Amino acid sequence: MTTAATPPVGIPGPGGDKYLGNLHAFSSDPLGFLTSCSREYGDVVRLGANNVLLTSPDDVERMLVDRNSKFSKASADTRRGSRRQGFPRSMMNSDGADWQAKRHRMRPAFGRGLTTRAAEIVHAQGERMLAGWRTGAPRTLQDDVSVLTLRLVTSLMFGDEFRDEDTAEVARLVAPIMDLSTSPLLLPEWVPTPRKLRIRRSMARVDRTLRALAASPAASDPDRAPVLHALVHGDPKPTPDELRDELATLIMAGFETTNDAVVWTSVLLARHPEAAERVREEARTAFAATPAGLARMEALPYTHAVVREALRLYSPVWITSRDAMEDMEFGGYVVPAGTTVTVSQWVNHRDPRHWESAEDFRPERWLPGAPDFPRGSYFPFGLGPRACIGAAVATTETVHIVADIWRRFRLELVAPERIRPRPALALQPMGVEVVPRAW
Ligand code: HEM
Repeated sequence: MTTAATPPVGIPGPGGDKYLGNLHAFSSDPLGFLTSCSREYGDVVRLGANNVLLTSPDDVERMLVDRNSKFSKASADTRRGSRRQGFPRSMMNSDGADWQAKRHRMRPAFGRGLTTRAAEIVHAQGERMLAGWRTGAPRTLQDDVSVLTLRLVTSLMFGDEFRDEDTAEVARLVAPIMDLSTSPLLLPEWVPTPRKLRIRRSMARVDRTLRALAASPAASDPDRAPVLHALVHGDPKPTPDELRDELATLIMAGFETTNDAVVWTSVLLARHPEAAERVREEARTAFAATPAGLARMEALPYTHAVVREALRLYSPVWITSRDAMEDMEFGGYVVPAGTTVTVSQWVNHRDPRHWESAEDFRPERWLPGAPDFPRGSYFPFGLGPRACIGAAVATTETVHIVADIWRRFRLELVAPERIRPRPALALQPMGVEVVPRAW
C-alpha cells in the first residue's frame, strides 16, 4: 500500500479496530459500510490511515474530471489486483503520458462503427442464447448471459477467429480475476492466497491464447477484427506484451460488467411487471419495424430508460479509487499526497440528498422532462478523461439483450429473497434463478 507522507488529519470517520482499522467492517459488508460512513460522517470520510471516501457529487466531479491528472489510477489499481495479477501494460492500468498515448491509439477502434457492429451482431448472438430456453424450464441467468456477453466482446475484437472453445477457455481463466474483491483497504500484496496462485496459473494460458489470436490473419483485416486490427496497426505500435495486456483487459472490462447490467435489469423487470409489460410492447414494435442495428436502438427509448435506472440502482462498477499525487483540498480538508481517495457509485447513486425515493425503481427518471441531477451523483461509466471507452457499445448491447429477452419471455424469479449483490471486481448478482414464462 502506498504510504502517505502525512496521514489525513481532522477528517471525520469510523475509528475501527486498533490494529486492522476498518478492514473487517469493509470486508464483511462493503456496500453497507460505505453507505453508513457517508450517512454518518458526510462528504469527506476518513476510512483508514491513508484512505478517504468522497461522497459529494461536486467532489466526485472534481476528482474524476478537473483533477484527473493529479491522481494515479495505476497505483490504486495495484491493490485491487488487476495490475500485479497480470496486465500492467494496458491502457486501463497506465497513467500520465503513457495512458494518453494508449487511449489515443485505442480511440479510433471505439468509434460509431464499433457500436453499429455491436448492434448488428447482438441480435444473432441473442437468438443463439434464447434458442436454448424453454418456457417453464429454470435457467441460471448469469451463466447464460455471460456466454453471450463474452462472445460479443470477443467477436468485436477478434471477429470469428475466436472460436467457442476459446470463449469458454477465456471465461474460465478470467473468472478468478473477476472474483477478486475490490477494496482500497486490502491485505498486503505478498500474502499468497489460493486465489492468487490460481490466477497466476491461469495467466500463462490466457497469454498463450491471446498471443495466438493476435498473430492470426484476422489481425490484418479491419472488417473481421476491428479492435485487434486498430491496436496492431496503431501508433505507437504495441509490443507483444502490451497487445496481450490490452486484449485481456478489454475482455475483462467488457464482459462481466455488461453481463451484470443485463441480469440486474432483468431482476428489476421481474419485480416490476408493469415496466416489464411496457418493455415487451416497445420491443415487439421495435423488432418488427426495424432491422437489427442502431436504428432499433433508437426505437427502444423506454427500455433504455429502464437500463439506465438499473445502472443507477445496481451499478456494475460500484467503487473507484485513485491515489493522490499531491496535497489537495476537498470539502475544506487537506487530503495529503499518497492518500487513496475512493468514490462509490453505490453510495452516490442511492443518496437521498440527490435522488427522490432513491431506493425505488423509477425508469421515468430517464424520460424527457424528468428533473436534472448533479453529474457526480450518477456515473456508472465513470466521468472525465478516463471514463469507460466501451460505454456506447455496452449500452447498445445491454438495451438490445434486455429487449430481446423480454419481448419473448416474462421471467419469474425462483427465489427472489435469495438474490443479493456480491461486490467483487464488479457488482455480481447472486442467486438469480429464473423461469421463462410465456406472455
Ligand atoms: C455495462 C458495462 C460497463 C460498465 C458499467 C463499465 C464501467 C466502466 C467504468 C466505471 C470505467 C472507469 C473506471 C475508472 O474511472 O477508474 C470504465 C473504464 C473502462 N472500460 Fe468500461 N464498462 C462497461 C463496459 C465496457 C466494455 C464493453 C468495454 C470494452 C469492450 C469497456 C472498456 C473499458 C476500458 C478499456 C476502460 C479504461 C479506460 C481508461 O482507463 O482510459 N468497458 N468502465
